[in-house]
Amino acid sequence: MPSDLEFFKSQFNKAEYVHLNNAGLQPITRAAREKIDYWSRRFWEEGYNTDKDYSADVAHTRTSLANMIGCETGEVAFFTSTAGAINQVAFSCGLKADDEVVMWDQEYGSHLYPWKAACDQSGAKLVIVESEQNLATPMEKYLKAITPKTKVLAFSWVQFLAASQMEDIKHVIQFAKQKEILVFIDIIQGFGIHPCDIWAWGADAVMGGSHKWLCSPVGVGFLALRKNLIPQFKPHVIGMYTYGTCDDPSDFACEPKRDATKFEPGSKQVLEITALGASLDVIQKVGVKTIETEALRLAKILRTGIIDLGYEIVSPYKGEQVNSTPFINFKPKGEMSKKTLSEKLNSQNIFHAVRGPGLRFTPTAFNTENDLEKALFALK
Ligand SMILES: Cc1ncc(COP(=O)(O)O)c(C=O)c1O
Repeated sequence: MPSDLEFFKSQFNKAEYVHLNNAGLQPITRAAREKIDYWSRRFWEEGYNTDKDYSADVAHTRTSLANMIGCETGEVAFFTSTAGAINQVAFSCGLKADDEVVMWDQEYGSHLYPWKAACDQSGAKLVIVESEQNLATPMEKYLKAITPKTKVLAFSWVQFLAASQMEDIKHVIQFAKQKEILVFIDIIQGFGIHPCDIWAWGADAVMGGSHKWLCSPVGVGFLALRKNLIPQFKPHVIGMYTYGTCDDPSDFACEPKRDATKFEPGSKQVLEITALGASLDVIQKVGVKTIETEALRLAKILRTGIIDLGYEIVSPYKGEQVNSTPFINFKPKGEMSKKTLSEKLNSQNIFHAVRGPGLRFTPTAFNTENDLEKALFALK
């Protein structure tokens, strides 16, 4: 096994659990845990003395995240959830009555509801495109929903139910750019497990969070917003740090900061953000491509085993493309309900999610073939 991969696997706790809900809540890396231990000890011992050092560590996370996205550090803002980042964009992108926002019908609530609320408030229309059979999200159908009134395309890179993806996101972005339509992409279900070119292709903003493929604690959402758009996007939540720092005097004439940190109203979740930075260091040391290759290898073994046991896989793609993400959504056999099958798996500590038409396994690179054997044995 390549040493990078071995290093990645060694970052995780191999206790009695079979972690196959990594697109739900992934265990954190050892580096993230050590980072939390480090800062909690220093906060306990030193209090205010930590001020500069923890700020530098938060800045390190911001730079690492920017590197992974491919954007500038000043284009990144932290939130406490993906929903927070999406709210910022939805309520400040300048929606007006009669504008249209185009989304898929299977978007996750943290993505869907902010856009619904922003449309309701502005009088814009939320255009919901219906998925095809097996949750497929064909690009042509999505593009057909675009009209001269379309102001925003808001979609997920990888859909959470069964990992539907539009085949050619680059083309969608380029098409939108020609028509001066804004493109905002929820990347949480692909970021950290697949190499990400979305920023390079020209998306106006990407939003995501810490607790899935970034193997970090729950509690960090992030936004990367193009620097040319930052001045016209007003902060959705306001505080001291919108304008300056805790050491600045209050002044009604002050202007918001000029970079994306103006979207962060106050003090940060230092433990979570610095732990995220530690995990990003691990991911970048190992390489997203290495992580993806191993995750897809394991997913293929698991998927084949599930099919051999006679289960129906729910997947938007056929043939080779079925292996393009490590998501496996499958239906219980015969009369068995999703709930019953889920309870049986839970009783054996085999983590999964109940999503859409079936149960969802999402292996990643730290899993082992032994994990897969346990899951297949339970399904048998
Ligand atoms: C597509 C998608 N977006 C966002 C999230 C997370 O949202 P939040 O960080 O607001 O809980 C999830 C997690 O389940 C998701 O699947």
